[in-house]
Amino acid sequence: LIVDASGNSSRPIPETLFGIFFEEINHAGAGGLWTELVSNRGFEAGGPNIPSNIDPWSVIGNESAIVVSTDRSSCFSRNIIALRMEVLCDNAGSNICPAGGVGIFNPGYWGMNIEQGKSYKVVLYVRSVESVNLSVSLTSSDGLQSLATTNVIAAAVEFSNWTKVQLLLEAKGTDHKARLQITTTKKGVIWLDQVSAMPVDTYKGHGFRKELVSMIADLKPKFMRFPGGCFVEGEWLRNAFRWKETIGPWEERPGHFGDVWMYWTDDGLGYFEFLQLAEDLGILPVWVVNNGVSHNDEVYTSTILPFVQEILDSIEFARGNADSKWGSIRAAMGHPEPFNLTYIAIGNEDCGKIYYRGNYLKFYYAIKDAYPDIKIISNCDGSSQQLDHPADMYDFHIYTSANDMFSKANRFDRTTRSNTGPKAFVSEYAVTGSDAGTGSFLAALAEAGFLIGLERNSDVVEMASYAPLFVNDNNRRWNPDAIVFNSWQQYGTPSYWVQYFFKESSGATLLPATFQANSSNSLVASAITWQNSENNNYYLRIKIVNFGNTSMNLKISVVGLGSKHVRSVGSTKTILTSSNLMDENSFKEPNKVAPIQSTLEKAGPDMDVVLTPH
Ligand code: AHR
Repeated sequence: LIVDASGNSSRPIPETLFGIFFEEINHAGAGGLWTELVSNRGFEAGGPNIPSNIDPWSVIGNESAIVVSTDRSSCFSRNIIALRMEVLCDNAGSNICPAGGVGIFNPGYWGMNIEQGKSYKVVLYVRSVESVNLSVSLTSSDGLQSLATTNVIAAAVEFSNWTKVQLLLEAKGTDHKARLQITTTKKGVIWLDQVSAMPVDTYKGHGFRKELVSMIADLKPKFMRFPGGCFVEGEWLRNAFRWKETIGPWEERPGHFGDVWMYWTDDGLGYFEFLQLAEDLGILPVWVVNNGVSHNDEVYTSTILPFVQEILDSIEFARGNADSKWGSIRAAMGHPEPFNLTYIAIGNEDCGKIYYRGNYLKFYYAIKDAYPDIKIISNCDGSSQQLDHPADMYDFHIYTSANDMFSKANRFDRTTRSNTGPKAFVSEYAVTGSDAGTGSFLAALAEAGFLIGLERNSDVVEMASYAPLFVNDNNRRWNPDAIVFNSWQQYGTPSYWVQYFFKESSGATLLPATFQANSSNSLVASAITWQNSENNNYYLRIKIVNFGNTSMNLKISVVGLGSKHVRSVGSTKTILTSSNLMDENSFKEPNKVAPIQSTLEKAGPDMDVVLTPH
C-alpha cells in the first residue's frame, strides 16, 4: 500500500462527513434517550374517546376499594383526557383500605431505573373537591419496597381547581425496574393528569440520558438527522410527526401514536429538544420534514401549500428572532438565541411517490426564497444519473448483505464529479438480514469497507450516517442497531465500534492510498491526516479492512514525507476483529467485539504489517 503524504494530490474531507441519524424507532427516544420515566403521562395514549385504555398504568386495589376511569376534564385543551380515581375505602371509616393503600402505578418503559442517592423530579396535576392525602412513591418492581416516598396533603378546596404539584424524591435504594405509585387511604374522588418523573441529573440539564449521549459524543459526529425515517412519514399522514404538537410546555403536548413503529410517544422529546440536543453536542441539525407523503396517503401538489407553510413556520421557530411569531415560542421555552438550522431534508424515501416531485418543488422554492442559505436534500438518488430537480444533496439509503455492502466500497467511484451538482447524503446504511443478526461482527466488517469507500469518495459524498442509532432491548422493531440499551445499561454493537474508527475523518485531509495492482480485492484502505487541536500534533491514520479469510502480509510505504518526522512514540494500531464472524456484543459481554489499541512498533515511512483474516 502506497500512501502519498506529499500533499500533492490530497484533498479536504467535508467537515460534515460523518454524523448520526436519530429516529424515534425501537423506543430510541421515549423510554430511551429522553429521560421521562413515566409512560403515557397524560393518559392520552388510549385515544380521545372515553372510557379509554390507560395502559401501561395499572390500578392498585380491587373494585370494592377503588374505581378508576377516564374523563375529559383535563385543564389542557389539547390533551383533554384525565384520570378519575374514586376511592371507596377509608382508613378512618369502616371500609378499611388494603395495606399500602389504593391508587395507580406506572411501570415506565419496562421498568424505571431508580438509583440510590439520586434525585427525581416528580410533577403531577391534581384536582379534588375534598381534602387530599396522597402518597407518591418510587418503589421496587413489585411495589412492596419503597425507594423514595413523599406525601401530598391538601385541605378541602385547596385542589378544587387543577393544581400543579412538584416534588423532589431522593432514592434510598436501587431498582432498575422500579415503578411510580400514587396511593391513598382516604375516601373521595381525585383527578390526576400529566404525571411526570425524571431524574434531576441529565445531559447538560436538558433531559437527555447522559450515558447514551456520551456514547454519541464519543463518535464525534458532525450532524444529527432527525426525527426519522419512516417516523416522519407515518403509515398514514394523520399519524405523522407534526412538530407544532411537540413544542411548548410539556403538559400541553398531546402526544401521538407512531403508526409505523407502533408505539405511543408523549412527545416530551419534541422538535425543540432535538434542536437542543444538536446544539448541546455542537453538531448541525438536519430536519427531515414531511412533505405531504406518508406510506399510504399523499397530499395533492395543488393542496400542499399549508404543509409548506408548516415547515416555513418550523424554520422560523428555529431561526427567527425572539419577537417573531414562532421564534417567540422558542424564546419562551428558554432559548432566545436562534438554533443553527441549515439543513432540511424533504421527505424520507418518497422519491417514487406520485406527488413527491411536485410537492418537493413547492417546498424547495418556498424555503430557498425565504432562507437561501438552507441546504435542501432530495429523496431521489442522484448517484448514477442527474436529478431532474434542483437540490443541494440527495439521500442514498442502503440496507443489504455483508458481501454486497463490502462491494459497495466503490459505489461512488463512477459518480459524475461536478462542482455544482448535488452531493450524496448516505443518510441510512447498514448490513441487515441473516448476515447481521442483532449486530454481528460480519456486518460491521463490511460496513467498515463501505465507509472507507465513502471516505475515498468524499468529493461526491458529503454526509453519512448509520441507521438505526438506538434500540431499547425490550422493543426490537428493527435489527441491527448501533447502540443497545435497557433502563440502565448500554453497549455498542460492532457497527458502533466501526464508526469509532472514523471519528477524526470529518474535516481531515484525505491522502491518496493505492494498493499495488496485484493485491487482493478483499482489501480496502484509506489514509487521512489531521491536526489534533489538543496538542497541535499532526496525525496520520491508515485504515485497512481485510474482508477475506486469509492472513495478508502488507508492506505500507508512506511516501513524500520529506523532512517531516514520524514518531514511534505515541503511534498506535487499533484492531477490530473477532474469531467468529457472527459474534455480537451483549449486556453480559459488552466489549466482546471492540477495538483493541496497542503501540505500533516501528512506525515509520516503511512498515510491514500482518493483516489477520477479517
Ligand atoms: O432505519 C429504519 C428505517 O429504514 C427508516 O425509518 C427508513 O427510512 C428506512 O426504511
